[in-house]
Amino acid sequence: GHVLVLAGGLSYEREVSLRSGRRVSEALRAVGIPVETRDTDASLVPAVLADPPDAVFVTLHGGAGEDGAIRSVLELLSVPYVGADPDACRVAFDKPTAKAVVRSFGLRTPESVTLPKETFHDLGASAVLDRIVERLGLPLFVKPSRGGSALGASMVRTAQELPSAMVGCFAYGDTALIERYIEGVEVSVSVVDLGEGPVALPPVEIVPDAGLYDYASRYTAGHTEFFAPARLSPEVSQACAEMAVTAHTALGLRDVSRTDLIVDEAGLPYFLEVNVAPGMTETSLLPMAIEAAGDDLGTLCQALLEQAAA
Ligand code: DAL
Ligand code: MG
Repeated sequence: GHVLVLAGGLSYEREVSLRSGRRVSEALRAVGIPVETRDTDASLVPAVLADPPDAVFVTLHGGAGEDGAIRSVLELLSVPYVGADPDACRVAFDKPTAKAVVRSFGLRTPESVTLPKETFHDLGASAVLDRIVERLGLPLFVKPSRGGSALGASMVRTAQELPSAMVGCFAYGDTALIERYIEGVEVSVSVVDLGEGPVALPPVEIVPDAGLYDYASRYTAGHTEFFAPARLSPEVSQACAEMAVTAHTALGLRDVSRTDLIVDEAGLPYFLEVNVAPGMTETSLLPMAIEAAGDDLGTLCQALLEQAAA
């Protein structure tokens, strides 16, 4: 038998995904697992039917990899895979929907407005933006409602910056999520469930040199300083861990997820989003958390694949 690592895809995060796929494949080979790595083109279904893998590890970020589409196809092919099922992905991948779900479970998440491009234009952009600034105040954070790796995302410090932030956002998606910006420390908590319930890995603290954790500071080595575990008090660290585990459970996720949050100056964590196919690149957060926990990436991926295939 062999396992299949899916990487690439046609989303804006294709390059990131190729790097994630390479890292996971190497880590699995290092622990002796035969690995096939594939992109998601027309050769995928025939290849899987001809030689079904024992299980699939999805390292496709954004689009079909995280919105449930690829997992629906894997379900159709009756091939087991690591991670959340299509329905859970559809909910989790849509940031406004995920925020609403976790809020109903009592989690704190920044106040926000969700605005589809058409509504925005139909109603007259500037009148709508004025109301948003009035409602949420400044600064704001604007991002595509279904995206990743900070593509199309930007911080808005003055009302004058909002229109161009919206344009930048709509370049990457049809719907914008405009959030009140919470000043604080960016923290990411990975959650792993190896059959005994979801467990939080050590929180990772993100300190980008440029102040903003944008695409370049995510994927250029040395542009961001990471602290794993995060420099938080035990109480705040615990609150972050609980938030990530609650989000994982509330959204009906499986096996593995990563919740990104902001801890404000009073030490209160705010849920930002959850990733159902967390980045696995050399500068990604889940691999750092695994290392901080004293575990090995290949061993963990192997365990997740075996659990999926069981
Ligand atoms: N969306 C990227 C891959 C991440 O969250 O790690
Ligand atoms: Mg993300």
